[in-house]
Amino acid sequence: MKVPFVDLGAQHGPLRDEILAGWADVLDATRFVGSRDVESFERGFAQAHNAKHCIAVNSGTDALYVAMRALGLGPGDRVVLPTNTFIATAEAVSMTGAVPLLVDCHPETKNIDVVQAAAAMRQPNVRGVIGVHLYGQPADMDALVDAADDEQWVLEDAAQAHLATYKGRPVGTLGTASAFSFYPGKNLGAPGEGGAALTNDDNLAAAMMALRNHGQVQKYNSESIGLNARMSELVGSTLRVKLPRLAGWTEQRRVVADKYHALLSGHSDITLPTEAEFARSVFHLYVVHVPNRDRVARLMEQAGVSVGMHYPIPVHAQPAYQSLGYVAGDFPVAEESSRTLLSLPMYAELTDTQIEYVAEQLVQAVASASLPQESTHL
Ligand SMILES: Cc1ncc(COP(=O)(O)O)c(C=O)c1O
Repeated sequence: MKVPFVDLGAQHGPLRDEILAGWADVLDATRFVGSRDVESFERGFAQAHNAKHCIAVNSGTDALYVAMRALGLGPGDRVVLPTNTFIATAEAVSMTGAVPLLVDCHPETKNIDVVQAAAAMRQPNVRGVIGVHLYGQPADMDALVDAADDEQWVLEDAAQAHLATYKGRPVGTLGTASAFSFYPGKNLGAPGEGGAALTNDDNLAAAMMALRNHGQVQKYNSESIGLNARMSELVGSTLRVKLPRLAGWTEQRRVVADKYHALLSGHSDITLPTEAEFARSVFHLYVVHVPNRDRVARLMEQAGVSVGMHYPIPVHAQPAYQSLGYVAGDFPVAEESSRTLLSLPMYAELTDTQIEYVAEQLVQAVASASLPQESTHL
């Protein structure tokens, strides 16, 4: 049996005609950038997260960048963020000229360690903190908001967490602003790149809208140096079709997670993901931790199961960030996690047979990988 890591074909099959009709409309109307479909999607996405403003952009990275530029971040400033995240969280800070100040992750959820974050926020020149809702599970946002002083902001990196809730409230407006990604494999995926920022702050929304469009407040009148981060109508029209299905897909992801949990609990070598009491995860990823991870991953691939690693190199260990001066051992929880984490196939359309096969193969692979290497012919 073959189990892909994600199966966008299975998701798009039933929507194909609707998506194509939307594309035909865009083509016929010859409106291609940030127009009717994008605006309609912005309203729908804001509403789904109880937010006042949605600013659609070209990627999650752009959403983070535009939000931080709108907040006035620049050279000489520092921003606290977890080392256990996708590199884009740090890159967006660097793109403004500011410097990431990294902290470790919580041993169970693998989300930002809020105690370390609060301490880091007291260091000089720290303008704000980014809570990353990693794997689809909200970070402990109240702790970050409480730690911020009057001048500091709190951003949510919700690239992996569309519709996730924290203490019953949707992510997106738990801090000053938030950033979402619509990269194709995300819970809400575009046919290409896409992203959005949410906020309840009118001034911040206006600043982000200007920045995504060359800093223009009116055509040919730029009040700030911005960029071109406008969303295309083809992306907007597709996201409009998919948005009403997102809640259903999310529930299905949670069902898949429950099934993995039931099949895999009781295996002492396999550590399963945990949900904090304040969080309702949308399981963008289902990440287990296993010994001999690389051998387990190879055995899974040989058995036809595609697996992922999110992320095998924490930000502080990336060659691109050696200039920050961190060394091995600085973030022991993230470092240990990076050696043992393994992401299993996760998407709404996974069948029971596939889920059972993945679980079976994982148990077998973990057992085989623990044998002396010669006997497994790896
Ligand atoms: C946690 C996190 N932050 C930011 C991003 C960046 O989003 P994008 O790829 O749309 O730029 C991603 C995307 O993978 C992500 O997973």
